[in-house]
Amino acid sequence: MEKFDTIKHDVLVIGSGGAGLRAAIEASALGVSVGVVCRSLLGKAHTVMAEGGVAAALANVDDRDSWKVHFADTMRGGQYMNNWRMAELHAKEAPARVRELEAWGAVFDRTEDGRILQRNFGGHKYPRLAHVGDRTGLEMIRTLQDHGIHQGMEFYQEYTIISILKEGDKVSGAVGYDREKGLFKIFEAKAVIIATGGMGRIYKISSNSWDCTGGGISLAYHAGAELIDMEFVQFHPTGMVWPPSVRGLLITEGVRGEGGVLRNSEGKRFMFNDIPDLYKSQTSTDEEEGWRYTQGDKNAKRPPELLTRDHVARCIRREIKEGRGSPHGGVFLDIAWIKEKISNAPEHIKRKLPSMYHQFKELAGVDITKEPMEVGPTTHYIMGGVRIDADTQMTSVPGLFAAGECAAGLHGANRLGGNSLSDLLVFGKLAGEHAATYAKKNSSSPINQAQVEAVIKEALAPFDRDLQQDKENPFQVQSNLQDMMQELVGIVRTERELDDAISKIEGLQRVAARAACGGNRGYNPGWHTAMELTHMLTVAEAIARSAKERKESRGGHFREDFPDKSEEFSKKNICLKKGADGRMHMEFIPKAKMREDLQQIIDEMK
Ligand code: FUM
Repeated sequence: MEKFDTIKHDVLVIGSGGAGLRAAIEASALGVSVGVVCRSLLGKAHTVMAEGGVAAALANVDDRDSWKVHFADTMRGGQYMNNWRMAELHAKEAPARVRELEAWGAVFDRTEDGRILQRNFGGHKYPRLAHVGDRTGLEMIRTLQDHGIHQGMEFYQEYTIISILKEGDKVSGAVGYDREKGLFKIFEAKAVIIATGGMGRIYKISSNSWDCTGGGISLAYHAGAELIDMEFVQFHPTGMVWPPSVRGLLITEGVRGEGGVLRNSEGKRFMFNDIPDLYKSQTSTDEEEGWRYTQGDKNAKRPPELLTRDHVARCIRREIKEGRGSPHGGVFLDIAWIKEKISNAPEHIKRKLPSMYHQFKELAGVDITKEPMEVGPTTHYIMGGVRIDADTQMTSVPGLFAAGECAAGLHGANRLGGNSLSDLLVFGKLAGEHAATYAKKNSSSPINQAQVEAVIKEALAPFDRDLQQDKENPFQVQSNLQDMMQELVGIVRTERELDDAISKIEGLQRVAARAACGGNRGYNPGWHTAMELTHMLTVAEAIARSAKERKESRGGHFREDFPDKSEEFSKKNICLKKGADGRMHMEFIPKAKMREDLQQIIDEMK
């Protein structure tokens, strides 16, 4: 066996997006030694793709806003499947986290009197998204990074973690490899924070970066942590549909927040036809009133384009399926129409939505100040993930923490736009704080060499299989998985499709066990993909099994064979755990009764 480099930290953070960086900043501020591992280069995390803004009830644009309204909006948007304690912490803490970011140097757009500007987004009652044009995530990462690198933390760039190590029940570290040279490294740590983001890349059409393959969710699961709410996958209504090379790329909801409207091939604003009961009192069916709302009229109701994402995505799917789609299989999103309303519309659009303007001009040859965009749903986010304690972010495995998209609970059945960036800040900080506290209280556990050797033997197996007759191409397996998930576990699901998906996933698991690669360990994408297949298939299995079990429709989970919400299913979360037999075991967890004072807020806001 080769000798492996071993590095020691009190807290190891896996992932350098918003949650990972915020966690690392907090932990190192508490005086522990922190290592941050990232699969890409620092500054290239998927958080940089977040566009429209970070949700926080600062009440800068509408003074009726408060943490209570934000809490109620988040719960309503999540169809009350949310962990209410997380929703409470999030709504209360988000304003402080945004102001802190401002103090660390984030350059937000401004109101006329110099405060942080906030914009409208779907499901938020008041303009609540603090933003930097349509590049908010980029500015957030730049700020956190600038702040973090001065705190003495250690960064391991272009490293991938392949397994969490444990001694008994407790975390003892992790095994990873350097993507450039292919050398293994052992990270010894008292506490490990998983902050690896989502899993969009197990679907064919996705807004996610290449590295969002569900790795962290699967690492936690294989280390013994529980997963919940995996059936709730968010399909963002507006991704690019053309050209094919950029299909799925995000078009920010900010376009609709600034007055953009959705139309079908008949030129009709189809969102007027279908407004859910939960939002009837807040939504306008009058074009003029909807426009006034986007321009800040406090007495106007929101246009139906700003209904929640789950609903808007299904309406778009219906238009396309019923033959009223655009030439390339989407619908039209039109912001150019605002020239009827304001004289300097092209400049206004370019100033408010600079990335959207350039994205369409350069990638599709479309000038969005003059013509509508073609858009369609794209896999964007998973509301489910690793089950954690709301107050500490610790999983059921002592010393293992999770924060950000890979952790579950805050968003329930559907996430409101902008709540992900605030989630990263609020819960990243909490995870860092509690992981540091845990590390101070616990001594390090010895690394189990047998465990390390088993992990490395499995990691190297794809090279051995290269000589086998029945070897499989790892890229082909990933591509087959993406096609299958897109077709069978998409926006609308049925029992028959989910059964089919589960049996196909089992088939792909057998095929993946023969995935092979040639060459050597120096930057070898075939090898990297072969190792990742286990994670992608674990997450796919968790989604498909949970989706089959939830026999109702709610938020991001829509069952054509059970189109209504069920009282019975409103009371429980679906929880998955790896059994001693190595198989995925499922149980229903009754939802905790909401605290009286929070229930009162919900009742009042209704
Ligand atoms: O549409 C957007 O800008 C996406 C934001 C989000 O997912 O929070």
